[in-house]
Amino acid sequence: MTRAARPARELVVRRSRWVLSYWDDDGGHLCEAVTGRDIPADADDLALVAAAGDWIDERDLSMRVPGVSWREVRARVRALARAGVLERADVPAPRAARHADAWRHWGLPALWFHAAARGASWAAPADIPDLVRTRAADVPPTALASPLPAWPRGRVVTLPEPAGGDEVFATLRARRTWRRFAGRPVPRGDFATLLHASFGVQAWMQGRIGGPYAMKTSPSGGACHPLDAYVVVQRVAGIRPGVFAYDPDRHRLIRLGRGGAPDLRRWFPGQAAHPAAAAVCVLVARFARVQWKYHTARAYRVVMLDAGHVGQTFCLVATRLGLAPCCTGAFDDRVVEQALGIDGIERAAVYAMGVGVRPAATSWAPFADPADLPRLTAPPITARRRTCRKP
Ligand SMILES: Cc1cc2nc3c(=O)[nH]c(=O)nc-3n(C[C@H](O)[C@H](O)[C@H](O)COP(=O)(O)O)c2cc1C
Repeated sequence: MTRAARPARELVVRRSRWVLSYWDDDGGHLCEAVTGRDIPADADDLALVAAAGDWIDERDLSMRVPGVSWREVRARVRALARAGVLERADVPAPRAARHADAWRHWGLPALWFHAAARGASWAAPADIPDLVRTRAADVPPTALASPLPAWPRGRVVTLPEPAGGDEVFATLRARRTWRRFAGRPVPRGDFATLLHASFGVQAWMQGRIGGPYAMKTSPSGGACHPLDAYVVVQRVAGIRPGVFAYDPDRHRLIRLGRGGAPDLRRWFPGQAAHPAAAAVCVLVARFARVQWKYHTARAYRVVMLDAGHVGQTFCLVATRLGLAPCCTGAFDDRVVEQALGIDGIERAAVYAMGVGVRPAATSWAPFADPADLPRLTAPPITARRRTCRKP
């Protein structure tokens, strides 16, 4: 039956293809994975949803669930449609639902996980110390210590002294997360270098099969490079604040809209570093770049692994430039996605790195409060070689 074939007096509905049901201690649930909406569901709801595999009007649907009154069926169908569990023939599918089709090879569990990991709430910064102290009571004994105690009888193989004199090793050791920055703008040249070395195409490769493939400074599963960098400029010399997309091939910024920089406290609720940074780069996964090639949910993992690589590259380049990097996975997906004009399904924000000028007279600013400076101690090998330097 087509959408247009039925009169509209009664609702014509169909089960979303992205619905799953599960049970926990609170009872049954139906979840629509595109929106991530999760509603309680009893056996009658499940029967209704099971019977709506293809377009069906409410009258016919009520025949399929004999124990439920017509009035009750109507109420339930409307509630299920509001939750997105049932699609309505008279309401066009939202953009995100249309894009969900590209996830078909990765399947419902992958999209469900994607939805489940999107919405999150974070503790207020003032509550964090207490929260950590309370949860510390549950730390398993081996979780924080060196791995050695877990293998008390393992044979020890001694290793030669690690090399580490050159600039690459110095940069690796010096990388730290900064959460306080100078008010001075980042020099434009340094910013350009940071963007190009982190996100830019360094070469194009024509493979035997397919291509051209972009070659970048970070590895990427299947050379797909699914991550686009969106850039919020707050304080970069010679660049008016605003939101931009970075063009990795032609090394340029493209201004999105006419507004200035958005209020980053809304993008990063409760976070000290990113709202204070001179610029923030949001990595946005364009899943289709991977979905065409890899038809397995495991590829979702690969996209996240790619993001970690790019984030580390960004932090190292910023460190080498003498700047102060930070990174976070804690942002309000919906606020960020709305500002960037992406739907969270076809493209989704997955990681965000910030950068600023280091504040004066400090070798590290890991917290918003300048008085809060943790002590770094050297592990045995570093202490022996006396190479543990402050960043
Ligand atoms: C995936 C990821 C997510 C992170 N999220 C946050 C965050 O939400 N807030 C924050 O202040 N730092 C965040 N960080 C930074 C870590 O707290 C930081 O890397 C850690 O404390 C170790 O310090 P270091 O980076 O100076 O070595 C994140 C780091 C990573 C890799």
